[in-house]
Amino acid sequence: MGASLLRLHFHDCFVNGCDGSLLLDSTPAFETEKNARGNLNSVRGFEVVDQIKAEVDRACGRPTVSCADILAVAARDSVVALGGPTWKVRLGRKDSTTANRALADSVLPSASMDLPALINNFKNQGLNQRDLVALSGGHTLGLSQCSIFRNRIYNATNIDPAFAKQRRATCPRTGGNTNLAPFDSTPAKFDTAYFKNLVKQRGLLTSDQALSMVDPPINL
Ligand code: HEM
Repeated sequence: MGASLLRLHFHDCFVNGCDGSLLLDSTPAFETEKNARGNLNSVRGFEVVDQIKAEVDRACGRPTVSCADILAVAARDSVVALGGPTWKVRLGRKDSTTANRALADSVLPSASMDLPALINNFKNQGLNQRDLVALSGGHTLGLSQCSIFRNRIYNATNIDPAFAKQRRATCPRTGGNTNLAPFDSTPAKFDTAYFKNLVKQRGLLTSDQALSMVDPPINL
């Protein structure tokens, strides 16, 4: 769940800033961002955010903390709980009253992006190559679905053959679309395994492996 909460914060922040808009369901006035390509049948953890929000509101006696702040704190605390570093989260984000599915479709990065596309995608958010590499370290946590990495494990040339074979065992050429595989061998531990894998061409997504092409390499 920690992985999923971290990703919710990321997908919230990339669409019009960290304003909780990802949590809003569709109304007659707008379509939910949950339907966007990068989110549909993919992001999860909404019910846990609802539980946290209810508990915080109960403790405060009334709704006090914004949903956007809850996402930010939950992401940080998830990373800490899974063995990662901590950071100070400033509070005071205001929740949006609207969502933008079309914007989410255009700004969320996709697994098939090459390095120039990823650099450009992050640049549009005011983030540089160092930010791109560091933040992608979020993939030290969590899992991905076969339909998303299938093309890479069957067709890529920049992949360790033993790793490709291992992943093919649970991700057949046809079927098994929702079968899950971890980004690294320790998906519930915030460690450096994700980056070590990239050096060995063991990145799960095309976008993960693309980071190994950053030139000159980034020293985090
Ligand atoms: C650099 C561009 C990125 C791309 C293209 C990307 C793409 C993806 C994809 C395709 C998945 C798997 C979705 C699925 O199989 O349903 C995923 C999962 C995940 N992403 Fe990213 N991501 C990126 C950056 C990030 C960043 C910056 C973070 C956080 C700092 C992050 C955190 C996660 C986590 C934790 C998961 C696992 C979620 C879970 O297991 O529920 N990603 N990402």
